[in-house]
Amino acid sequence: MINEYLQKTAAMVEKQLQDILTAPSPREETLFAAMRHSVLAGGKRLRPALFLATMEACGKVGAAYLPFAAALEMIHTYSLIHDDLPAMDNDDWRRGRPTCHKVYGEANAILAGDALLTHAFAVMAETPAPARPLLQAIAWTARQAGVDGMVAGQAADVAAAGQEIGRDLLRYIDRQKTGALFSASIVSGAYLAEAREDQIETLKRYSDLLGYIFQITDDVLDIQGDAALLGKPTGSDAKNAKTTYATLLGCEGAMAYARELAGEARRLLLDWPEEAAVLREMPAFFCQRRK
Ligand code: IPE
Ligand code: IPE
Ligand code: MG
Ligand code: MG
Ligand code: MG
Repeated sequence: MINEYLQKTAAMVEKQLQDILTAPSPREETLFAAMRHSVLAGGKRLRPALFLATMEACGKVGAAYLPFAAALEMIHTYSLIHDDLPAMDNDDWRRGRPTCHKVYGEANAILAGDALLTHAFAVMAETPAPARPLLQAIAWTARQAGVDGMVAGQAADVAAAGQEIGRDLLRYIDRQKTGALFSASIVSGAYLAEAREDQIETLKRYSDLLGYIFQITDDVLDIQGDAALLGKPTGSDAKNAKTTYATLLGCEGAMAYARELAGEARRLLLDWPEEAAVLREMPAFFCQRRK
């Protein structure tokens, strides 16, 4: 069921991304080519899928929200382009292609990331939705993408490389660098669906748990995964001397912890209606993923 849902939503988001990422004139062609190289390379599109699944769970659906979903994927892809840069993880492959800086050079990769981030906010702001929930969704997304979330987490991740760090700091890093964009995707969907305050609070806790589970499985796949299937190199964390749950607890211990968190995340939504089935199943799906 999750696989079908992901396929269906990815196809819808793909179409939006194709439309959005068309250069307005030949002068912007290189910039747009660099953006398209990384965005239109077949990512899993999990964040837009979670945004749409949350809207459905909160009783709202509609094609009007698809550009917003695509914008979330643009922010995520910008984070990947910058994460791969030589100054950060220094990786050569992403989504089965050479990384953006390998093909277009570092300056264009930095600029492609900048452009995806800023353009995403323009796209979100153009959503035909009531002003108050739309502003709540955009403000939440900006905070989670930036200083209250992903950028802060990446900064802490860079600072921690080569250091021995404990579980408290690791939990902070994973919540910020990864959980925050899940939170942006899920909670902005809830705001746009005009969900109740108690639903929003539950979804904030749920998305943090989903972030931990996702990063733990990413770290285990970095050790035990198949690079061809992942579309990115394994061994990146060891190369950069990163502490992860996999180094702290071992791969089996880390996966046991991920499954425990997945149970907790699922339980948060037990009394939600049938429309929340995708959200309920997602934590277990994350624990089983191979890519
Ligand atoms: C990779 O995210 C970055 C992390 C947060 C670990 P995904 O595994 O969702 O990457 P794509 O979008 O499918 O390429
Ligand atoms: C990065 O975590 C999360 C981001 C904010 C991009 P990783 O550095 O582990 O992600 P991958 O393994 O390169 O996709
Ligand atoms: Mg990284
Ligand atoms: Mg990386
Ligand atoms: Mg990783």
